[in-house]
Amino acid sequence: DRSLKIAPSILSADFANFGKECEAIEAQGADWVHVDVMDGHFVPNITFGPATCAAIRPHIKGVMDVHLMIAPVDPYIEAFANAGADVITAHVEAGPHIHRTLQAIRAAGAKAGVALNPGTPASAVEYLLDMVDLVCVMTVNPGFGGQKFIHSQVEKVRQLRQMIGDRPIHIEIDGGVDPTTAPSVVEAGADVLVAGSAVFRGGSVTDPTPYGDNMRAI
Ligand code: DX5
Ligand code: ZN
Repeated sequence: DRSLKIAPSILSADFANFGKECEAIEAQGADWVHVDVMDGHFVPNITFGPATCAAIRPHIKGVMDVHLMIAPVDPYIEAFANAGADVITAHVEAGPHIHRTLQAIRAAGAKAGVALNPGTPASAVEYLLDMVDLVCVMTVNPGFGGQKFIHSQVEKVRQLRQMIGDRPIHIEIDGGVDPTTAPSVVEAGADVLVAGSAVFRGGSVTDPTPYGDNMRAI
């Protein structure tokens, strides 16, 4: 299904109220919920791990889209699958054996995603396309919400769309997506848009901003 999907990143949500935040964004129209796992090693920030994913799972009716910014990845795949992740995305840059990692994700019963940092070419996934359900194009350097969209990545999205052809693979955009940047990547062939700061805008369930309006604006 290549219809456009909005995947709010709870990295910009109220960390003390993840359950309620997930319920609020879904009630207001989120298609997927994007969950950013960071280890302070692969990226210069730390968020949370499988226990938090398991805790928020009952508060998400739809797709829980788990983006692993961790290295190594393989020792933790089972734990994230058991936590209820529907999609598990690992970075090609996280280790020398992304092929094995993607096999392990599918073997654990999840959909497999592969993510590319801004400096990594589209060709890095050329020999992986038969084993992935999603390619995530990072349009910021991973680690933090609220960074500026890197426009050079739009061309990469176009190349990936071409490489993917008829395969049932989502192209997900992650970083700096807002109403001004979204049209370029959609035109280039993306179908899943992750958005953190543009959806939450510093609000929270206890001080609600109109999440639905923010999502529709994208
Ligand atoms: C960045 C994360 C993104 C981030 C996007 O490392 O992977 O998912 O939350 O945040 P915004 O939309 O604010 O750039
Ligand atoms: Zn992400």
